[in-house]
Order: sequence, then C-alpha cells, then structure tokens
Amino acid sequence: MSKLNLLFFGPPGAGKGTIAKEVSKKYDIPHISTGDMLRDAVASGSELGKRVKSILDSGQLVSDEIMLDVIKDRLSKPDVEKGFILDGYPRTLPQAESLEKILKDMNNPITGIIYLEVDEETVVKRITSRRICPKCGKIYNIITLKPKVENKCDICGVDLIQRDDDKEDVVRDRYKVYMEKTYPVIEFYKKYNHFFTVNGSGTVEIVTKEVFNILEGIV
Ligand code: AP5
Repeated sequence: MSKLNLLFFGPPGAGKGTIAKEVSKKYDIPHISTGDMLRDAVASGSELGKRVKSILDSGQLVSDEIMLDVIKDRLSKPDVEKGFILDGYPRTLPQAESLEKILKDMNNPITGIIYLEVDEETVVKRITSRRICPKCGKIYNIITLKPKVENKCDICGVDLIQRDDDKEDVVRDRYKVYMEKTYPVIEFYKKYNHFFTVNGSGTVEIVTKEVFNILEGIV
C-alpha cells in the first residue's frame, strides 16, 4: 500500500483547494497550501507576512528563496509522515528541483500528481465569484457553491470575505504568471507514470469523484 504524497497542479481557480480539502478529509492527510500559509502570515502581521503582502496582492510570485524556507519548515512537521497534499508548491522549475531534493533526503517520494485542467475564462469567472471563510478557510462560490445563508460561513457563521488578489485584472496577471512559470513545471512532471490529468471544468462532485477514483489506484 502506497502513502498519498500528492502534488496538485492547475491554474488559479482550477479547484485545487476545493478538491484538496475533500481528499484531506477522506484520507486524513494534511492539505499544505502555500497560498494559505502566506495569507496567514500576512493576516498575523509576521515578518514573512510584511515581506510578501504586496507580492501576493499583485499576483506575482514570492521568491524561490523565501518559498524554500517556508516549505522546508512545513515538511519538517511530523504530520507529513502519514502523507500530504502539496497545493501551490512547486510553482517554478527551481522550486521543483528543491522539492525533489528535500523529499529524497526525507526518503518520502511523491506518489501521485493531479493536474486539474481548466480554461482561462472559466477560472476568471470562478475566482471573481469566490468567497472564503476567514476563520475555517472553507471555500464558497456565489454562483456554484453558495453558502446556506447569504455571505455567512455554514460552519462558523462569520461573514465571508473576498481575497485581495481575486480582482479580475489581478486574476488575469496570475494566469499569465502561471502559464510562464508553472506550466513548464507541469511539463516536467508529465514524464512520471503517476501523473494524472483531470478535466477540472465539471461540477465539484464530478471532479472530486474522478480524483477519488484515481487515488483508489494508488493507496
Ligand atoms: P494560491 O493561493 O496558491 O493561489 P492559486 O494557485 O492562484 O490558486 P487559487 O487558490 O486561486 O485557486 P484554486 O485552484 O485553489 O481554486 P479554488 O478551489 O479556491 O497562491 C496565491 C499567491 O501566493 C500567488 O499568486 C503567489 O503570490 C503566492 N504563492 C503561493 N505559493 C507560491 C509559491 N510556491 N511560489 C511563489 N509564490 C507563491 O476554487 C476557485 C473557485 O471556484 C471557488 O469559488 C470554488 O468554490 C469554485 N470551484 C472550484 N471547483 C469548482 C468546480 N469544479 N465547479 C464550479 N466551481 C468550482
């Protein structure tokens, strides 16, 4: 039986966070989102948060050096022993090389790579209607995944918020950055025999089911 050491790829708004949370729940493995970690750092006002806030707001990438410290620290935590989902890392070829080295040193190789394929217009529509619970991180969508009570988290009851980088012009910049910097990383991983492309444009239920089916073949 293989551990689930997973990488999730796809453009901004492809549904990586949404599907990763389902996988995390089902298989009881941590969902490691570097975007969430950076946003938490900004919200806490830490030194890291102060350094990255304007970069996040502009849709550009944080430097590989900073990200290496962030990911090394996170992967040194004991909970990754049972498996993990990396969402948002690696995002550049140097980050992919660093990750290979870290996991080799840990003797904990990647066992599955999920690439959610979605076109630009779909992701722009999804992201500009995304809302998030600032307390528990649950992801909503005012068109496709509405909360039970308008603008309130189903779990915490607090007001939902919109991410600062979810404005249409920033989303288009993030998509451009993704095509330039991250798409080559996906090409790099396509040679692995545990690389799976999933059509991410179906409903959340359909995409989740397809990903679960793939993972059943790994565990
Ligand atoms: P990050 O947080 O990683 O953002 P991203 O990759 O742009 O991805 P998103 O979180 O926007 O989208 P998602 O695919 O998770 O979609 P979601 O599930 O929410 O990074 C943010 C920033 O941090 C970067 O720009 C960069 O500055 C920095 N950063 C992070 N990591 C870095 C790194 N390694 N190196 C350098 N910088 C880094 O879904 C989107 C919406 O669609 C939601 O409303 C959801 O409800 C809805 N939805 C999802 N799936 C479906 C579906 N199947 N059908 C209908 N609606 C759906």
